[in-house]
Amino acid sequence: MLDKICSVEDFRTLARKRVPRMFYDYADAGSWTESTYHQNERDFRSIHFRQRVGIDITNRTTTTTLAGEDVTMPVALAPVGIAGMQHADGEILAARAAEAFGIPFILSTMSTCSLEDVATHTAKPFWFQLYILKDRSFSERLLERARAAGCKTLVVTLDLTLLGQRHKDIRNNLRAPPKITPSTLYQFITRPRWCLNMIGTGRRSFGNVVGHTQGVSDLSSLASWITEQFDAAFTWKDLEWIRTRWDGPMIVKGILDPEDVPKAIDAGADIIVVSNHGGRQLDGAPSTISVLPSILEAANGKVEVHLDGGIRSGQDVLKAIALGAKGVHIGRAYIYGLGACGQAGVTKTLEIIRNDLTLTMGMLGERDINQVGQHNLVSDSVQK
Ligand code: FNR
Repeated sequence: MLDKICSVEDFRTLARKRVPRMFYDYADAGSWTESTYHQNERDFRSIHFRQRVGIDITNRTTTTTLAGEDVTMPVALAPVGIAGMQHADGEILAARAAEAFGIPFILSTMSTCSLEDVATHTAKPFWFQLYILKDRSFSERLLERARAAGCKTLVVTLDLTLLGQRHKDIRNNLRAPPKITPSTLYQFITRPRWCLNMIGTGRRSFGNVVGHTQGVSDLSSLASWITEQFDAAFTWKDLEWIRTRWDGPMIVKGILDPEDVPKAIDAGADIIVVSNHGGRQLDGAPSTISVLPSILEAANGKVEVHLDGGIRSGQDVLKAIALGAKGVHIGRAYIYGLGACGQAGVTKTLEIIRNDLTLTMGMLGERDINQVGQHNLVSDSVQK
């Protein structure tokens, strides 16, 4: 069956059939009108490659480095909260797929499996994503746990101190496990294997913040919990505080405006991720690929710049790299594969992306991903 899957869109269709609808919608949704979410994808389409011929492209390589680590392609698995709703032990399976592939996996603060669960089931260090809680001693303990689990690279997400509204989650009355209604009962009957997996995952709910999440079982209690626990007063000074507590590379995620770039650098960021949270937070914000050139200009080579949002193929990865990103992070692209087929689905997604990458690089006349640049793009397609 997997050999018939050719694209991320194929996995999306399969995940929609297999994953209980409210969990699929949770992953697939954007905030409010979903305009930023769709713009992220759409803006890649208006960037055009320069096709070059007459070049020996027999041998091609996608290996490079991200945050100082050797990687087989410039792609990391983005942090995705409650991935266990897509597949039992979702984070462990995704981390294993990334490890076998030779790319970083980023574990969310809000993961189903804990730091310790993932460390037990993997051999190499993964990256940890931190949301800042008001309770600073709890945040410090999370950092200690991340270090003890072997994480060297920290990703601090700045664009979610308030939760963006996602209409689908409200309409679906999102909760885990789902409330038994005629509709969820129908889904149990038509998707039995996956629903049992979901229930099995209950034993690990919110592994990193366990003890802090009593009573959180549905969307409204989760939203209230975030309002109570996440620090809406967070400023650049707090980022400096985190910097003093983390020795390894610190990645700052959620930068979308060039004026925020020097602030992140001054607060100690080694890397920034151009991100709008996959269009799940500020609806009406620009797409990430459209702001990448201005962010790179503001960064002026002082930090590595990564990008996420809307990447669904190796061609999208190449476009971001050609515009100057050092690497990209994928969210939904691997989550669809995870929901549809577990670890094998994530692995297949990565294979599809790498295959797209190596073929497309050849058609651009490039042998080494580190040489891909603006010269590979039709110049008037770059600025929208
Ligand atoms: C996310 N994202 C996210 N980011 C983060 O820093 N911590 C988190 O816990 C989550 N949780 C989360 C859940 C789900 C279901 C999605 C889809 C996304 C945002 C994520 O890391 C990344 O920024 C986006 O997914 C990138 O956009 P694409 O690739 O999904 O279009």
